Amino acid sequence: MLDRRQFLSAAAGFTGVLGLRESLFVRAAQAPAKLPDPALYGSNEDAYWTELRKQFLIPEDEVYLNNGTVGSSPAPVLRAIFDGYNECEKLAQDDPEDYPIWGYASWNEFRDPLAAFVGCMRDEIALLRNATEANSYIANGLDLKAGDEVLMTDQEHPGGEHPWNLRAKRYGIMVKKVTLPKPVPNAAAVLNLFNDAITPRTRVIFFSHIPTVTGVVLPAKELCALARSKSILSAVDGAHVPGMMRLNLRELGCDMYSSSPHKWLQATKGTGFLYVRDEMIDRVWNTIATEGWDDPKLRAERFQRIGSSNVPALWGLRAAIQFANQIGMERIEKRHRQMADYILNEMTKRGAESWTSPEPALRCGIATVNVPPIKRMDLENWMWKTKKIRIRGGEPSKLRLSTPYYLLKKDVDRFLAAFDEYKRAHA
Ligand SMILES: Cc1ncc(COP(=O)(O)O)c(C=O)c1O
Repeated sequence: MLDRRQFLSAAAGFTGVLGLRESLFVRAAQAPAKLPDPALYGSNEDAYWTELRKQFLIPEDEVYLNNGTVGSSPAPVLRAIFDGYNECEKLAQDDPEDYPIWGYASWNEFRDPLAAFVGCMRDEIALLRNATEANSYIANGLDLKAGDEVLMTDQEHPGGEHPWNLRAKRYGIMVKKVTLPKPVPNAAAVLNLFNDAITPRTRVIFFSHIPTVTGVVLPAKELCALARSKSILSAVDGAHVPGMMRLNLRELGCDMYSSSPHKWLQATKGTGFLYVRDEMIDRVWNTIATEGWDDPKLRAERFQRIGSSNVPALWGLRAAIQFANQIGMERIEKRHRQMADYILNEMTKRGAESWTSPEPALRCGIATVNVPPIKRMDLENWMWKTKKIRIRGGEPSKLRLSTPYYLLKKDVDRFLAAFDEYKRAHA
């Protein structure tokens, strides 16, 4: 591994040779060597987050309100990825049969910190590349017959819904949906919707812990308990959850869980995972098959036998977990809630209709509002092209505003001022 001095000198060499003064490599090397002192948080929270913001390479004059689509890896994560390349690409492993390829081994040095972070056992977790891949494993892996029903919400992401649609088209299972109200008023409303839609043919309840459409935090624990009480399997798409809020999979009580830590955990793009509760592992078939696919002793590692893939990405995942732990998930979650509440309040003061749950427990780092007659795509383009503010919406007038902890209050205020300006100009 390169120490910081070596890293900086390598970066300087890079700059000199290639003229890449603005290269990622150089900028990652130039970020502060240490995270802000935790004591600063106690004395001045805003100063703490302002200092922490320096670890992120998003330019200072850009406001990024779309962490819900993908996060941005901070400098320590990037440095770990570069270290991973440095280690892997020499192909100098001690054992002549040892190759740096994710997809053929246990990679416990990465699974262990991940399992600890999400509250499960190492043997229950498989390192995959994103939630879509993990959802496909779930939808393809269960023994289901034609006519068996999978119950989901009408707010699933295509990477959650379509694996089941494919299975339905090919093998005749039935996909049924409950319609979530906008906003979801409380947990009981969701539980009642699911309870009422369950039939004797329901085999699986599949839902996003935090659906992409509105960012509502669904009552996952209660939904999984409902499923269990009726001998129905629970599969949860948790693409947004790790790194946004604290997560303990065993406490959640789901049978399966998928995720994309490259969103809120700010991990390397192309890192995901599949959790399968120990008691369920033997009931899930592999989708990708190579050596080990039929070895039950491998437990969930069986699902991570995906063929050659990129180990330095896993170095980044591990560093992202360490980064979040250093800050503290409690602080991160609190900050996500504070910032989302702030933007939501300000938007409703401006006449926006809230599609964010009024129940504090059902919201975290995403606020969603409806702002007719504004056309969201016109606003998105204007915000980005004239103000360097990146937002995400949905047709025709929905705005989904993600508030990651590295966003500063002045960034949110810049967005609000820009929104006012747009409204005035397009009245
Ligand atoms: C709820 C949900 N599931 C799945 C996905 C797909 O994630 P990925 O593209 O990382 O597989 C997303 C992406 O936004 C999502 O919001």
